[in-house]
Amino acid sequence: MTLDQGGSYMPVRYEERERAVVVAGVGGWVPPDVVTNDDLCARLDTSDEWIRTRTGIRTRHVISPGMATSDLAFEAGRRALGSADDREIGAVVLATTTPDRPCPATAPDVAARLGLVGVPAFDISAVCAGFLYGLATAAGLIASGTARQVLLIGADAFTTIVDPKDRSTAVIFADGAGAVVLRAGRADEPGAVGPVVLGSDGRFAHLIQVPAGGSRQRSRSRSCGPGEEFFQMEGRDTFRQAVERMSAASRHAVESAGWSLEDVDRFAAHQANARILEAVADELAIPAGHRLSNISRVGNTGAASIPLLLAQAAEDSSLAEGHRTLLTAFGGGLAWGAATLTWPKLPTA
Ligand code: UT7
Repeated sequence: MTLDQGGSYMPVRYEERERAVVVAGVGGWVPPDVVTNDDLCARLDTSDEWIRTRTGIRTRHVISPGMATSDLAFEAGRRALGSADDREIGAVVLATTTPDRPCPATAPDVAARLGLVGVPAFDISAVCAGFLYGLATAAGLIASGTARQVLLIGADAFTTIVDPKDRSTAVIFADGAGAVVLRAGRADEPGAVGPVVLGSDGRFAHLIQVPAGGSRQRSRSRSCGPGEEFFQMEGRDTFRQAVERMSAASRHAVESAGWSLEDVDRFAAHQANARILEAVADELAIPAGHRLSNISRVGNTGAASIPLLLAQAAEDSSLAEGHRTLLTAFGGGLAWGAATLTWPKLPTA
């Protein structure tokens, strides 16, 4: 990190050929408390069988009282830094839908706790597509010379915003965090991220939303209605859009990288619902053995989903050096994205 006399971060200079973004570290963390399907059945009109067959989820992790998104983000960030050779970070980007508070952003707090005082740090709001939006943002920070290395964290504590009485969301969403260290490098080296494909369609913003808590609800003309402070999702329409958008974005990303779908060794999609993952992977003809998944253990962790999946898969070696990996995500906004990368050899995964 280079700071000027006023404590601001100084842009770096490096060779033009080193302006690709390369994965140099990964880490994930879920809080220790586990909620099983049977635990949910005790308070909701649902069943273990319904949850397993409709979502693929068996357990999920939830934060304990007093914990917040920054605690999840800090732990994942610490682990990602620990797995990187070079721990000098020039910017911290945090993708989250559940910041510790509406203002200020949570990233500066996380950065300071990681000892990164003075570096640019900010939050990104793209719901479950946040990690891929963050990847593109980090690539921009690196290409522009603002930072040589970026710590990108996806962290969400969805259990703090879902309605505990809403069986259609309470069984799916959970808490967790994942992070990657991204460095400037060459486009042809292992770990290099290909072009990041992103999209949005605000006409369908109503499909996934927390209606209250923003400027519209706070205005004098509009007061908060029942349940409007909670996360709401129109599941069926969201499901359809998720399959369509992730399939299209994946094709686009693969094509932009100069790959074909047969080149994909590992498919790491946002863990929204096991049936969605299967539908997208089937549509893309990704063989069953190439599909990474941890949804049965962690549920849908929003912006944390992809980096947490990468961290856990790297740890259990289902994701290994040289695997050509396709990432894709979809979420509220609507917002979606996809990108390719060849998994690198990391010092300690
Ligand atoms: O993270 C990114 C964005 N999120 C997603 O991509 C998630 C997208 N959607 C989904 O994962 C699924 O739509 C859900 C899991 C939310 C729902 O599954 P579904 O198979 O689409 O069910 P449905 O909404 O079509 O509902 C079928 C039935 C309904 O009952 P009726 O109307 O047929 O009598 C629901 O009330 O299942 C009922 N239901 C439940 N039953 C038992 C909904 N939730 C539950 C539940 N337990 N937890």
